[in-house]
This record gives sequence, structure tokens and C-alpha cells, in this order.
Amino acid sequence: MPAPLLAPARQRRWPPIVIALLAQLIGAALTVGVAYVLAPMDVVLRPIVAALLTGVFAAVLGTLAGLDRWWIGIQLLFVPGALLASSAALPRWVWITLFAVLAVTYWSTFRSQVPLYLSSTKVRAALVPLLPPGPFTFMDVGSGLGGVLTDLSTQRVDGEYHGIETAPVPWVISWLRIRLGRRANCHAHWGSLWDCDLSRYDVVFAYLSPVPMAALWDKVQREMKPGSRFISNTFAVMSAPPDQVVPVDDLHKSTLFVWLHHRAQ
Ligand SMILES: C[S@@+](CC[C@H](N)C(=O)[O-])C[C@H]1O[C@@H](n2cnc3c(N)ncnc32)[C@H](O)[C@@H]1O
Repeated sequence: MPAPLLAPARQRRWPPIVIALLAQLIGAALTVGVAYVLAPMDVVLRPIVAALLTGVFAAVLGTLAGLDRWWIGIQLLFVPGALLASSAALPRWVWITLFAVLAVTYWSTFRSQVPLYLSSTKVRAALVPLLPPGPFTFMDVGSGLGGVLTDLSTQRVDGEYHGIETAPVPWVISWLRIRLGRRANCHAHWGSLWDCDLSRYDVVFAYLSPVPMAALWDKVQREMKPGSRFISNTFAVMSAPPDQVVPVDDLHKSTLFVWLHHRAQ
């Protein structure tokens, strides 16, 4: 992958959302410039073309500014999506409800830069052989909708499964899922993983984003007990080579990174 022309977004002082918005604004200005240049030739940009052009400019600018890959699709589709949505004549309460649901679902994403996406079924299956023999305690830091907990708890009934989730709606869904499924060995906690004491668990699982991995690794080293294991879906720790790497043949070509018997590096 070519090196970004500007410093990567996460090393800059501005959060990615600010860079993304700036790229959109500059993209819109460039589109106005293109429309201005084309006007004497009697070429008028249709709104959807102008929106797509703005998306392309914003995506290119975002790439140059070193935004992570998953931002680029958002950059590309944001203005065309907004245009299409605004042309659908929906009542105002639909938009307000939609905004409220998204706000409580993605509660902490702005600050944590960890959105909600779920481990695939194949990842959950690949976790089973990585669990230790005998009774154990398991913690999913950032447990989303609780699917990892409920799946594993049926595969390995001798485990005690905990998840901590900061966003209210996913947490409520996971809590209900556990309650309604009568899963006595699963527990969903509402709170921040940074307030969670990892020394109580034999296995800690994370599927977050590249952003918190260095700080999480520090926490793992400080708190996890000898003999325990830390497993990360997809996101490695730059400073610490894993003890085991498990490729998973799912849609995203996920990888599980496993650190055994954590120790000071
Ligand atoms: C990528 S999802 C993973 C969900 C689930 N663990 C899985 O593998 O399917 C990450 C989740 O972490 C949550 N999260 C982000 N920062 C957190 C924090 N500081 N404390 C607890 N949860 C957090 C997000 O709200 C999101 O639901």
C-alpha cells in the first residue's frame, strides 16, 4: 500500500471525523469548481453526478490524509446517500427516530473509534478450540450484541462468559438475548472496558479497531494473570508478536491473534 502523503490520521491531532468532514467540504468546493468550468460549455452537472463527484473527491482526499480504509467507503457514499435519502419523502419523525437509534447504537464510536460490527460465525467457531481445558472465565471486551458469548456458551458449557459493552442499545439487546435464552453462564455488563478488571478472566477476547490496541495491550500486560490468554480478532498489536495466528476462511478473511501466558515484552 503506498504511504499516505500526510501523516496517518491517528497520529494527527485532529480526530478522523474532522478530517473526513473537511475532505467532504473540500470535495464539495472542488465539485462547484468543476461545475463552474463546465458551465460555459453548456454542461450542467445533474445533482446525483455532483454528489458522486463530491464523494470521489472526498475519498481521494481522505486517502491522501491517511484515513483508515473503512472511512473511504463512507467518504465515497456519504453525499450520494444523503441526496437519495432526502429525495425519499419520509415524515420528519422517521429521521428523528433513525437518528436517535443510531446515536444510542453508536454511542461511543466518536470517542472510541470502535464501531459496531460483529465477529462472523466462522470466527466464533474458530474460537472454540482456542479456549482452555477445564472450567474457565471468558470476557469479551466490547461485546456488541452478545453473539460471541451466547455462541460459545452453547459450545463450551463449562465456561463462564462475561461481556462488557459501552453502547446502550447493543448492551440492552445482549442482556435481553441472554435473559430470554436463559443462559445462566452468560453475563452482559454495561460499562467501559477500560474500567474492567481483566485479572478475573482466563480468556479475554477483543474485536475492536486498530486505535485502542496499544492501550489495550498495556492493560492486558498489567492485569491479566499468568496462564491466561488474550485473543484479538483481526487487529494485531504492533509491539508484540502473537504466540499463535489462526486464519479464518470467512468473508472478511479474518485472523485471530492469540497471546498465551502474557508477559512483559
Ligand atoms: C466490533 S464490535 C465487536 C462486537 C463483538 N465483540 C463481536 O465480536 O461480535 C466492538 C464493540 O465494542 C464496543 N466498544 C467500543 N469501545 C468500548 C469501550 N471502551 N468499552 C466497552 N465497549 C466498547 C462498541 O460499542 C462495539 O459494540
